[in-house]
This record gives sequence, structure tokens and C-alpha cells, in this order.
Amino acid sequence: MKTLIFNGSPRKNGDTAALVRILAANLKGEVEVVETATANIRPCRDCRRCKTEPGCAVRDGMRNVYASIEAADNIVIASPIWFSELSAPLLTVLSRLQAYYCARFFRKVEPVKKPKRGAVILVGGGDGSSERAFETAKVLLHQMNVVDIFPPVVSHNTNTQPAEKDMAAVSGLGVAAAFLNAFADFGEPEEGTK
Ligand SMILES: Cc1cc2nc3c(=O)[nH]c(=O)nc-3n(C[C@H](O)[C@H](O)[C@H](O)COP(=O)(O)O)c2cc1C
Repeated sequence: MKTLIFNGSPRKNGDTAALVRILAANLKGEVEVVETATANIRPCRDCRRCKTEPGCAVRDGMRNVYASIEAADNIVIASPIWFSELSAPLLTVLSRLQAYYCARFFRKVEPVKKPKRGAVILVGGGDGSSERAFETAKVLLHQMNVVDIFPPVVSHNTNTQPAEKDMAAVSGLGVAAAFLNAFADFGEPEEGTK
């Protein structure tokens, strides 16, 4: 089982990173984290080549990320809430999913063959709504052929309490991990029985 996690925070030891570490510790199989703030991946430039050609015209680190998306069984979007939305680094990297949108809409091909499960982790300094960020995360997960999305795990009020001390969020991560691990339990044959 492979899980690909997008971390939208530029803070190496921030709240999102802490929750990502807790989730990863509870996941079976391989876990890969894309640190969107330092990945050096450019935003979509709307060149429109993907309307007629497979893949993306921009040659950068996104090439490896496309391969990881296609191979993954689970995708997780983890982000701080920025002005009620997903963070700018996260949206920059995932703007490149336009190549998938164009494959489906204009070229009528499915670019991500393997359907996946997904989860969303959000952290916010205050107690404002996380609804808009979750809606955007769902749109992006659907672009990656995530067909089953776990309810969001949200830690509010990180201005007064670090997310890793938020017991409701930490226990939510345990349930999210169990949901994602279900693929390992039921989706794949046992080692040696393939
Ligand atoms: C540009 C920016 C915008 C923010 N907007 C919000 C917001 O709309 N709502 C909120 O609750 N917190 C907001 N915050 C606070 C962060 O979400 C919060 O500090 C979070 O815990 C940071 O997570 P991190 O340590 O993983 O980066 C904002 C922070 C920044 C830098």
C-alpha cells in the first residue's frame, strides 16, 4: 500500500507537519510526503498543450509527483488554512493537476488509472470555518481519482494550542489511518499469495 501526502505548510516543524507525522506513523506500507513549499514546482502556466498532448509541458519536479500520484493507493492533502483556503504552496503545486483535467475533458482519456482513497488534514490559528478549504481539497482529490474521501481532520486554535496537543484531532488521525489502511487489509493479497 502506498500513501502520498501533500504538506502545504512552509513550516518544517509546524502544526501541519506534526499531524502529518502522527498520521504517517499510523499508516501501513510506504508513505511519501511532498513538501509543496520547497518542492520547486512551478504553477500551471495555462499553455494549453495538455488539451491535445498527454502529460505536462513544464519540465520540473512535478514529473515525479505525477508518477507518485498514479502509483498511490491513498492521497492525503494536509494544509494550514490561509485566508479560509488551502495554502498558496499547496495550490501552486496542485494547479498542475490541470493536465489531468484536460486529459479527461478534452482528450477523453483517464490519466490516473488506479482509483484511490483520500483524507484531508487542516489546521487553523483561529476557530473560523474550514469548509471552503475542505471543498477545494475535495475538488483536487477528485482530479487525482480519489473516489472515497474521509471526513476532514481539523485542528483549530493553533494560536493557543499546538495541533499535536489537540486530542480530538489526534484521535481523528487514528480513525483516518484505519480508513486508509483498509486498503492494505482488504485490497491487496497477503505477501506470498500473489
Ligand atoms: C497567510 C496566512 C493566512 C492565514 N489565514 C488563516 C485563516 O484564514 N484562518 C485561520 O484559522 N488561520 C489562518 N492562519 C493561521 C495558520 O493557519 C495557523 O498558524 C496554522 O497553525 C499554521 O500551520 P503550520 O504551522 O502547519 O504552517 C493564516 C496564516 C497565514 C500565514
